[in-house]
Amino acid sequence: MNRPSPRGDTVRLGPWHQGFVYGVTAALVVSGIAWVVLHYFFARPGEYGPTIHPAEPWMLKLHGAAAMAGLIIYGSLLPVHIRRAWAIRRNIFLGIGLVLFMLALTVTGYLLYYAGDEETRPVISAVHWIIGLVVPAVLIWHVLSGRAQTRAVQKQALETHA
Ligand code: HEM
Ligand code: HEM
Repeated sequence: MNRPSPRGDTVRLGPWHQGFVYGVTAALVVSGIAWVVLHYFFARPGEYGPTIHPAEPWMLKLHGAAAMAGLIIYGSLLPVHIRRAWAIRRNIFLGIGLVLFMLALTVTGYLLYYAGDEETRPVISAVHWIIGLVVPAVLIWHVLSGRAQTRAVQKQALETHA
């Protein structure tokens, strides 16, 4: 199942690449949580009912920008990171899990832009941000498990060559 990589460990991301992945994920999560907090706890009473906090649209603008950058950065993992890891069958369960979470966020994000009426939009919104809240934990679990599997293969290789 978990085989050594014949062409060296190209699955591992360089420091810049890792920085971009963590940075864009943090921007998505922080802007998303800020939107939820402002939307549900900081709406102000207005003349014609509750009005949104002035920072709320800015959080959405930041979030939309991070989402577009995210699609490029997550997409950049496909040709090497995901392809190589898949070929050597390493960390595939948490890999597939993470990809499914990202796909669900992308689909519900698309629906937030282009679908939904007054009744369905709040449901799509809640599904989207609840999945979003879980993503950091899945990413951390993915990274820890992937590294542990790589260490196990390296240890095994050292013992075989000793
Ligand atoms: C949205 C998709 C994905 C993201 C954002 C992602 C992100 C990451 C990050 C940030 C790391 C830690 C960096 C490192 O250790 O070099 C990592 C490690 C790893 N990932 Fe992924 N990954 C994704 C999909 C996948 C998939 C689908 C697989 C398997 C088929 C996979 C397999 C691995 C492995 C084996 C490691 C450990 C690398 C090592 O340190 O030796 N990843 N991933
Ligand atoms: C691949 C990752 C993600 C993509 C592609 C994505 C995409 C989107 C899009 C397109 C929107 C609609 C923006 C608008 O109406 O102007 C949105 C809204 C939102 N996203 Fe994300 N998002 C992602 C990750 C996250 C994460 C990690 C969270 C964490 C909490 C999150 C929370 C939210 C919230 C709270 C909204 C506002 C919902 C609403 O307007 O009702 N998103 N997202």
